[in-house]
Amino acid sequence: MDTKALRQLSYGLYVVTTVCDGKMNGQIADAVMQITGGERPTVAVSLNNNNYTRELAAKSRLLGISVLADGMDRELIAHFGMQSGRDIDKFAAYPPDGVDEQGVPYFTDERFCAWMTGRVIEEMPMGTHTIFVVEITEGETLCGKPLIYADYLAAKRAPEPAKKAAKGGMRCTVCGHIEYGEMGPDYKCPLCGMGPEVFEPVAAEAEPVAAPAGQTGGMRCTLCGYVEQGEMGPDYQCPVCGMGREVFEPVG
Ligand SMILES: Cc1cc2nc3c(=O)[nH]c(=O)nc-3n(C[C@H](O)[C@H](O)[C@H](O)COP(=O)(O)O)c2cc1C
Repeated sequence: MDTKALRQLSYGLYVVTTVCDGKMNGQIADAVMQITGGERPTVAVSLNNNNYTRELAAKSRLLGISVLADGMDRELIAHFGMQSGRDIDKFAAYPPDGVDEQGVPYFTDERFCAWMTGRVIEEMPMGTHTIFVVEITEGETLCGKPLIYADYLAAKRAPEPAKKAAKGGMRCTVCGHIEYGEMGPDYKCPLCGMGPEVFEPVAAEAEPVAAPAGQTGGMRCTLCGYVEQGEMGPDYQCPVCGMGREVFEPVG
């Protein structure tokens, strides 16, 4: 079975939000699809059981979806998609642009092209994940085109050859881009738009680690870059971004 075939399915990328007893949280998800249309449109959202967003949404039965636009803000994706709201208040750094009638937060700035919110009407356990069916009651179309998940993955992989050849460049700590040229005070990372302050020199130990003779070189998560050297059973989940082993590929 070639699990990479699944990467050819088309998705967008979303900040999935919720609120429960006044506590707001949100996470990145690609696993979102419309199920029905008409007067009461429904959307399915698949959330990992370990995620704080899933825990809160299961209690409040409220969910929102802010649709990421084409510009690809990697800092925002890392903020909502590679750390848990159990450890930080994600909305402290990214205050929502609005909340719906139930208090579910959403975003309307230029990084988003639409938002929608509603109530959970069905919940289906699915192994490591829970599928929430949301009846959409509020929403708005904004400017711009939606970000395509496959484009996000392709752009994330693009700097890899440069990383391997890197000697003496400066690495963006947000997206991994390596800059070899001049970086003036107004410099902006061509991938994520961050300034020189988030760059650090490429250290020798940051080079990819060669596989010990006769052993595997590990498996790299194509979403967050984490390298797993240990066993990866069927229920394995990336300790950084929570994704399953199907998004991992061999190092090297
Ligand atoms: C590009 C990308 C796509 C993701 N897609 C999903 C997804 O579809 N479903 C999911 O449950 N987690 C997905 N995640 C992982 C969660 O966003 C991540 O585990 C997050 O830290 C959970 O935060 P929370 O514990 O605050 O809810 C994705 C992460 C990234 C970076």
